Formats: sequence, C-alpha cells, structure tokens
Amino acid sequence: MINITIDGRKVKAAEHSTVLKNLQDQKVEVPTLCFHKDLLPFGACRLCTVEVKTDGKWQLASSCNTPVVPDMEIRTDSKKVKESRKLAAELLYYRYPTTKAVRDIAVRLGVEVEPPSVEGNDCILCGLCVRACHEVVGVSALTFLDRGLDRDVEEPKVDYLAMACIACGSCAFICPTGFVKMEETGGGKRRKIWGKEFKMAACKVCGRYFAPLDQLKWISKTTKTPLKKLMTCPSCK
Ligand code: SF4
Ligand code: FES
Repeated sequence: MINITIDGRKVKAAEHSTVLKNLQDQKVEVPTLCFHKDLLPFGACRLCTVEVKTDGKWQLASSCNTPVVPDMEIRTDSKKVKESRKLAAELLYYRYPTTKAVRDIAVRLGVEVEPPSVEGNDCILCGLCVRACHEVVGVSALTFLDRGLDRDVEEPKVDYLAMACIACGSCAFICPTGFVKMEETGGGKRRKIWGKEFKMAACKVCGRYFAPLDQLKWISKTTKTPLKKLMTCPSCK
C-alpha cells in the first residue's frame, strides 16, 4: 500500500490502482461516461478529470486511466477541475445535443442545455461496446477505426464484423446512449443487432426462445460442453 492525499485527506491506496478507483473507494463522486469497472480504461470523455500533484507540479489528468504513485496529491473540487469537466461536457453537448446521456451529464456539470427538438441516440465513441465485446465476450466483433472523442470526423467509426458476432447483446446493454439497438423479432425466434438477424434457440424443456444459437455454440466451443447440454433455459435447469 502507498500513501496518497485526496482533497487534503491522507489515505492508503493499492499500488498500481487508478486515481478513480481510490476516489470511488473514498466515496468521492466523479462523473464518468466512458468508464466501466470491468473494462480497461479508455480515457476518451475526460469527464473524470482531477488535478494531481507529482514531483511538485499540479496538472490535470483523467482519473480513470491515471495510476496512483507514492505521495500523490489529488484535488477533485478545485476551480480548474470544475472548469475542465464542464468544458468536456460542453464539447460533448455541442457534438451530441439531442442524446440524453450527454444532456444529463452536461446539466449535472453546469452546462446550459436547451430542450431538444427530437430525442437522439448518437454514438459518442466512448468505446464501451468495443471493449465489452473484446475483453468480456472475447470475440472482437467490434473494432474502433478512430479512437477518442476528439476525432475530426463526424461519422461513428465503430466497425462491425458480422461473421464474428454471436448476438450476445453485451454491446447493447453497455451502450450508454442507446445507439446500439437490439430487438427480438418473430415472436422471439430471432434477435436483430447491428442490423443482422440471428436465430434464437428454443429450450428443449419448455420451448421458450431463450438465447442466440450462435452464442450457445460459442459457449459450447470455448467450454468444451456438448451443445445439447446447453439447450435448456435457466428456468428449466
Ligand atoms: S452482440 Fe456481437 S458485437 Fe455485440 S458484444 Fe456480443 S458479439 Fe460483440
Ligand atoms: S471516464 Fe475517464 S476519460 Fe471517460
């Protein structure tokens, strides 16, 4: 363990942990948009900015991907921190003015927000879907073509590899804006995600469609479990 100081308070921190992890452990509220505790940090939104002092110099840093170092001092409530977070929220809001998740965080950070004419759900390139697919699901059906929110181009740059997708839906669940859409069609017989339709498997006991067939095949292959053993829904197991 190492010693760090958060807003003037001395606390212990695990070596190699991030500033954000320690702030959350100390119940310090920090806005985030591209962070998820089960995924590697990405550092795209800059909403989690804090001031850190290392080697005698204060500087702004995104807390989610900055590791703590011995005797680091951290400020979470300074004028600079507030201004920096507000600026990050403003930039997001100007780019995605109709997207609810962006609007909500902008309001929280003091940005003046107009009522939207329509409700939008833009891809803000937070990278959560890409990281979930790669790090948690392990199939890498999504890749980032242009990283970060500071990109020049307007179009979303997430590339979808339909052949690799198993229709698990993790990307849709984790997407903070509703950009990734998933729907069940044909009375639950099919799942549509990223515009592609997948067959759902029916439970061999109750007949209910309960999981994408490709996902079950993937589990069967990776866990070396016979597919027929996986064809029972959680309620009938
Ligand atoms: S539904 Fe497809 S793209 Fe989305 S996380 Fe699962 S495998 Fe990846
Ligand atoms: S949450 Fe840290 S940069 Fe987005």
